Amino acid sequence: MSELYPVPADFAARAHVDAAAYDRLYPASVADPQAYWREQAAFLDWMRPFTQVSDTRFDPEDLRIRWFADGTLNASVNCVDRHLPAKADIPAILWEGDRPGDSRTVTWGELSDKVNRLANVLSGLGIAKGDVVTIYLPVIPEAFIAMMACVRIGAVHSVVFSGFSAESLASRIEDAGAKLLITADEGYRGGRTVPLKRNADEAVAGQPSIRHVVVVRRSDGAVPFTPGRDVWYHEALAAAAPWCEPVEMGAEDPLFILYTSGSTGKPKGLVHTTGGYLVHAGTSWRTIFDWHEGDIFWCTADVGWVTAHSYKIYGPLLNGATSVMFEGVPSWPDSSRWWSIIERHRVNIFYTAPTALRSLMREGDGPVRRHDLSTLRVLGSVGEPINPEAWRWYHTVIGGGRCPIVDTYWQTETGAVLLTPIPGAVANKPGRAGKPYFGITPRVVDAQGGVIDGPGEGNMCFEGSWPGQARTILGDHDRFISTYFAPFPGLFFTGDGVLRDEDGYYCITGRVDDVINVSGHRLGTVELESAISSHPAVAESAVVGYPHEVKGQGVFAYVTLKDGIPATEDLRREIKDSVRARIGAIASPDIIQWAPALPKNRAGKILRRILTKVAADDFQNFGDTSTLADPGVVDDIVQRRKADK
Ligand code: WT7
Repeated sequence: MSELYPVPADFAARAHVDAAAYDRLYPASVADPQAYWREQAAFLDWMRPFTQVSDTRFDPEDLRIRWFADGTLNASVNCVDRHLPAKADIPAILWEGDRPGDSRTVTWGELSDKVNRLANVLSGLGIAKGDVVTIYLPVIPEAFIAMMACVRIGAVHSVVFSGFSAESLASRIEDAGAKLLITADEGYRGGRTVPLKRNADEAVAGQPSIRHVVVVRRSDGAVPFTPGRDVWYHEALAAAAPWCEPVEMGAEDPLFILYTSGSTGKPKGLVHTTGGYLVHAGTSWRTIFDWHEGDIFWCTADVGWVTAHSYKIYGPLLNGATSVMFEGVPSWPDSSRWWSIIERHRVNIFYTAPTALRSLMREGDGPVRRHDLSTLRVLGSVGEPINPEAWRWYHTVIGGGRCPIVDTYWQTETGAVLLTPIPGAVANKPGRAGKPYFGITPRVVDAQGGVIDGPGEGNMCFEGSWPGQARTILGDHDRFISTYFAPFPGLFFTGDGVLRDEDGYYCITGRVDDVINVSGHRLGTVELESAISSHPAVAESAVVGYPHEVKGQGVFAYVTLKDGIPATEDLRREIKDSVRARIGAIASPDIIQWAPALPKNRAGKILRRILTKVAADDFQNFGDTSTLADPGVVDDIVQRRKADK
């Protein structure tokens, strides 16, 4: 592909890393990763310095991932204390509420005060080092404060996306054995009210591990309150002492848990540890976004995702950067909302997901042109492949043709970015996630496990460890090994397909496992199927992804009803609603197609390959259909798909 956007010369001139630096430093960083990461680790304030950089081995029989293991530190000291007193009166967070005009500034001084007080409140409620605290909050400053308060006392935070249902929240609380929940009375999104406390109460009802619920007051709504168990955040903070001694943590002590979907039903709680994660998140954030002192940064991700953990919260806080935080959605009250926020706060670096760009692009350039976006210098993309059309719109209309785009490839599991075009160093190619980050060794691997050199297509794997990677799946280390390290021994397997071009650029081609990527959110098809099949009218279901203009992939469900149950529009709606209630709105099927039977082989295995093709309106080349128990089933599915169009 020849479409190449060179790094603008004036950009390269002041960038942290230019092409010459990348070409010199990258090979050195992978030749001697220990030396590279030792140097990067100096970015943190350690309480006790480490003596050994790493002890790592990607051997499924003897997996070892340890970084800076004998060093000690505290995350909140690095994220907050060390920017004081110099930045006491400078904003850490420029917060914009859902409703235009509702805004708030949190200075570093205020952030520190609140973090210390909340840390004392948590200790007073019996939370100690190693305990898990679940956080179910909207995008409000208290989410940052809650995370920092946890890590100050060595508690492990587990943030659950506030769009998840009570049932999803309950299963995550249970899996982690969380002792305390931090939530809000209600949240606001796109003019609507989200009943967070009601969901939280429902979730906590069957969870004996939860002793207390700390409730942030965000709305004026009256919410149920259980005396003895529930504690108002504002009351507790006012009564708390203003200083909390930070707890000294080992570099390999857990920092947080974050759940994500996999190819089996149960979400996985990935465990990230303190030292390595902070080194990788903090240094990569600064390099990748080419942040300079004074720059205003905005990442639009919700606090419930890893994007926000590493690059909205830890990355900016570790660097003492001022960031914008926005509670609402880009389309409300109208589709110029984001652009008005960029203008108002003079944002320099903007990081978002392709799905949002595709939906805003449909509104035309008008809503953008009404605003002055000339402060923008770097744009970022994350969560799914960005199609070249959206890339060009982002580049031309949002970035005025002058801003490099960092298409960042990584995962909840990897903790921080692995592939990206570093903006001052690597020319952009639309649709390509660029080149490896420092210290990272990508491998393209064929189905037999053979490493492909040069251009080619295969499975996206990485060799050697990096400090930000997850250490295990909570309570299921065997699953951690079998998912990521057993498929290609000696390598970490991402679950993605990849293509490497003749210039060494990587293009992620999407998941190769039973995971679909809907609007940048990972959903396991098995998890979706079990939610659908729990509806009493459903006998069986099969879920696949299909190309969706805005979401990237949509959820396509083939549903077989129990004998004698009529297939009605009402039932379709009911099934969608039940998935929404069980998992959350993001998982609700876009299309439900009735299927009197599913195509199976003689062993009873569903042939998803065929279902995926039909969902994509591709009715040819079904491959080997000789294993089908009943070939007539496929004809029926094809006829129905054609008729539905
Ligand atoms: C999966 C990870 C990384 C934070 C957000 C999602 C896909 C992510 C890209 C990209 C193509 C991407 C992959 C990956 N993905 N970034 N720049 N280009 N695909 O984190 O929920 O853990 O999902 O998102 O499929 O495996 P996540």
